Amino acid sequence: MPKVISVGNMKGGVGKTTSAVHIAQHLGRKGKTLLLDADEKLQSAVEWCSGGFDGWTFDTLPYRDMTPEITAPYEYIVIDTKGNEQGDDLVSLAQNSDLLIVPTKADGTSARGLIRTLTPLAEANITNYRVLVVANVGGRGEELRHALAEQDVPVLTTLVRHSTAVGDAAELQIPLDAFTSNRYAKLVALDYSSVGREVLNHV
Ligand SMILES: Nc1ncnc2c1ncn2[C@@H]1O[C@H](COP(=O)(O)OP(=O)(O)OP(=O)(O)O)[C@@H](O)[C@H]1O
Ligand SMILES: [Mg+2]
Repeated sequence: MPKVISVGNMKGGVGKTTSAVHIAQHLGRKGKTLLLDADEKLQSAVEWCSGGFDGWTFDTLPYRDMTPEITAPYEYIVIDTKGNEQGDDLVSLAQNSDLLIVPTKADGTSARGLIRTLTPLAEANITNYRVLVVANVGGRGEELRHALAEQDVPVLTTLVRHSTAVGDAAELQIPLDAFTSNRYAKLVALDYSSVGREVLNHV
C-alpha cells in the first residue's frame, strides 16, 4: 500500500501547492511517487509540473483521475488540496492519509486561519497531522512554531524561508532545486529537503 501524505489548510494561499510539489520532489528520490492535484479549479500543482522540465522525480495527475489500479505501484502518494476546505473535509482527509501536512505562513492572518483549521482536527481527535511554517521572515516563524508547540500542536521543526524565488520557480515550471541561477531558490529547496526528511520520519 502506498503511503499517503496530504497537504491541506482551510485557508488559501498558505503554501499548500508549493509544499506538496516539493515534498513530492523529495519523496520521489526515495521511492516511486505520485502527486494528486485535488484543486479541481486551479490545478496549480499539475500546472507547475507541466512545463516539460525533465528533472521532476514524480508523476502528477488530477485527483479525479485516480483509480486504485493507478495508485497501486506507487510507494508515496502526495495530495495537494484546495483552500477553503470545510473542517469535515480536512478531518476525512487526515483519516484517509498516513500524514496530513498543514502549511501556514507566519503572519497574523494565516495564524488565525490555522486556528480555524486545527479546531475540527482536535475535536475529532486527529493526531496524524503536522503544521509546517513556511515563508518565514526574521524571527516570526520561530515565534509561531514555539507558540504552537506550547499549545501542544504538533509542528515540524523545519521552517521554510521566505523567497520570491518560489513564485518565480512556479512561473518557470521547475522545482526549486533546479533553479540553479537563483541562490535563494537553492536555500528554499534545502529547507524542503529537510521537510521531506521529517515527513519520512512520520510515515
Ligand atoms: N516560502 C515561500 N516564500 C515566498 N513566497 C511563498 C513561499 N511559499 C509560497 N509562497 C507564495 O505564496 C503564494 C501561495 O502559495 P501556494 O500557491 O503554494 O499556496 P496554496 O495554499 O496552494 O494556495 P491556494 O489556496 O491558492 O491553492 C504564492 O504566490 C507563492 O509563490
Ligand atoms: Mg494551491
